[in-house]
Amino acid sequence: MKARVTANAAYAVADIDKRLYGSFLEHLGRAVYTGIYEPGHPQADAEGMRKDVIELVRALDTPICRYPGGNFVSAYNWEDGIGPKENRPRRLDLAWRTTEPNLVGIHEFADWAEKAGTEMMLAVNLGSRGLDEARAFVEYVNHPSGSYWSDLRAKNGRAQPWNCRLWCLGNEMDGPWQVGHKSAGEYGHLANETAKALRGLDPTVELVVCGSSHSNMPTYPQWEATVLEATYEQVDYISLHMYFENYEKNTAEYLALPAKLDRYIGTVAGIIDYVKAKTRSKRDVKISFDEWNVWYHQRKRDAERMRGWDWPEAPRLLEDIYNFEDVLQVGCIINTFIRRSDIVRIACIAQLVNVIAPIMTDPGGSAWRQTIYWPFMLASKHGRGTALQLAVEVPTYDAAAADKVLWLDITGVHNSNTGTLTFFAINRHGSETIEADVALERFAAKSIEHTIIRHDDLEACNTKDAPDNVSPVKGNGAALSGKGMTLSLPPHSYSMVRVT
Ligand code: AHR
Repeated sequence: MKARVTANAAYAVADIDKRLYGSFLEHLGRAVYTGIYEPGHPQADAEGMRKDVIELVRALDTPICRYPGGNFVSAYNWEDGIGPKENRPRRLDLAWRTTEPNLVGIHEFADWAEKAGTEMMLAVNLGSRGLDEARAFVEYVNHPSGSYWSDLRAKNGRAQPWNCRLWCLGNEMDGPWQVGHKSAGEYGHLANETAKALRGLDPTVELVVCGSSHSNMPTYPQWEATVLEATYEQVDYISLHMYFENYEKNTAEYLALPAKLDRYIGTVAGIIDYVKAKTRSKRDVKISFDEWNVWYHQRKRDAERMRGWDWPEAPRLLEDIYNFEDVLQVGCIINTFIRRSDIVRIACIAQLVNVIAPIMTDPGGSAWRQTIYWPFMLASKHGRGTALQLAVEVPTYDAAAADKVLWLDITGVHNSNTGTLTFFAINRHGSETIEADVALERFAAKSIEHTIIRHDDLEACNTKDAPDNVSPVKGNGAALSGKGMTLSLPPHSYSMVRVT
């Protein structure tokens, strides 16, 4: 199959915010306990944090990590996680029907984030709690000293404030499953009042208000309109979430789902414009896509298991094992964010360790990279700079999610600091190689490098015994040509091509 692509270094979508490669860690299953924290593990540091996991997170170069939830945050008392560990209460977590020992709280997470080279994106509980507890939390984390909460922080061992910039006003408050679920009107009012208080306390914070949990919610898209009308002057981002499934095991349909993601982003961008016009505002609100990933491999089994269990501590939960097909999907999802990087400024892969995650651990044993680690890492490391507006001509197919889905999903990012053009390309076709002629305009190319991820078996996984089964290798399908380059992209493949 032939394709023609034009990349002009002057045709830009936007300068990508590095927080497009954010991540998420929830008190859920083994994300925290035996994920990042496992005192007694041979790799544990003095604080009980696993160094092998820190190393894998550092290599991902994820600039922000959202914490502590997720559904968990909607019944969480942040004060349970401060002070001497022996005095911290064990609590029943209503979101996942587990027992939370509170051995990791804000101090431990902040220290871990620093070691892992990431900044905190914190969420306040607007489910079971409200404005007052939220403002106490922000005061504890960000106020320098001389107040009840900031002095308590110093007494608990941290004199300097952490100065966390990014705060989520609750989580998925449109979802009936959420503890303290609210109507759009109720939530909009509470979020606005909380935002005013938090800004009063610290005018430098950036605030994220809840949009829809996914675009199939019955309240979508009216939820966004109502919530934004109530909060537009006080918030900086509206949060969206989406998870991808392939229960039917139909690869072409599965890989067409990012078209639905693209529509979701476009619709919410339109609602933001509508509310901006309606409120006669000069401010710009952007999208924080702070939960996204593939989530279906264990989902139904987990729901069944949860119904039967008796408040276990750190059980195996949402431990999806990803395959090679998911590499293609994650590549297409990230490409969608890159193409929409003018409006999607923040995105967080959900999640980071053990729970629907790129990194897995064995309690007492090793840590390894799942298949999806690789497309995320390659984009996070090399997808920084200016997203380009590419012209792409390639045959298409019709799918349930959308018509005219391109067989080739490709994005280009220009990094003017390093003088590099990086392309991320996924061949969605299962039997045809895509031969692409790529014109490079306003760019003098001298050298080219091809990295490819491919496997004959779409179901191939990485396991602790075969951790490198699906991983990137040097490719030979990219060459410089007269006015640009040629690409030969094998069926069902993920490629990164770097031109300098
Ligand atoms: O990431 C898993 C869960 O998915 C989160 O807790 C919740 O916000 C979403 O529904």
